[in-house]
Amino acid sequence: MEKKISIAIDGPAGAGKSTIARRLAQELGYYYVDTGAIYRTVAYFFDLWGISPKDADGIARYIDELTIGMEYDADGVQHMIMNGMDVTGDIRSQEISQKASLVSAQPLVRELLLDMQREVARKHNVIMDGRDIGTVVLPKATVKIFLTATPEIRAERRTKELLARGEKADFAKILKEIQQRDYQDTHREIAPLKMARDSIKVDTQ
Ligand code: DC
Repeated sequence: MEKKISIAIDGPAGAGKSTIARRLAQELGYYYVDTGAIYRTVAYFFDLWGISPKDADGIARYIDELTIGMEYDADGVQHMIMNGMDVTGDIRSQEISQKASLVSAQPLVRELLLDMQREVARKHNVIMDGRDIGTVVLPKATVKIFLTATPEIRAERRTKELLARGEKADFAKILKEIQQRDYQDTHREIAPLKMARDSIKVDTQ
C-alpha cells in the first residue's frame, strides 16, 4: 500500500481545531477524524452504565461491552456509532465534555483507541485532530500543527457561538470549564496534551 499523508492538529479545547480540520479535509479530499468524538463516545457509554469516568475497575469490567464505529455521511460529517446506535448528537453536552476529559486519562481507554485511530491513518489520507496526535498517535505525521489561544479567547468564542445559536451561555462558567479541562488534559500521566517538537504552533488570537 502506498504511504498515506497525515495531518495532525492538536491543541486545547475550543481552539478551533475541528472547524479548520473539517474545512481542510473537504478541500483536500482527505478523511477527517475528530478523535475527541471517540473519547466522548466512551464517556457517554460509561455515563449510561452509571460508571464514573474515574472508576478504573468499573471501566475494566465493562469496556468489552462497548463497540465503537465511525461512519461518514455524504457531507463528510463523522458519525459516532456506539453499540450500533448513532450517538453523534448525544456526545456534545458540557457534561460529556468533562467526562470525556476524565475518562481519557484512563490507560485502558487510551490503549483501546490507539489502534483504532492508527488504522484509519494507515488506510487513508487523514486530517486528525485531538490532543496527542502528533506526539503519540501519529508521531510520523506528514504535517503537525498545534493550534492554540488563551483560555479567555477560547471561552469568549464559545460564548458567542452558543449565543448565536440561541442557546444560553455564561462566559465565567465556560471559562472555568475550559480551564479545568486544560488542566486535566495537560496533567494526565499518559499522552498528555503537549506540543510535539516538530509541530508548527499557530496562535489563533
Ligand atoms: O476535542 P474534544 O473537546 O472533543 O475532546 C474531548 C476530550 O477528549 C478532551 O478534553 C480530552 C480527550 N481527548 C484526548 O484525550 N485525546 C485526544 N486525542 C482527543 C481528545
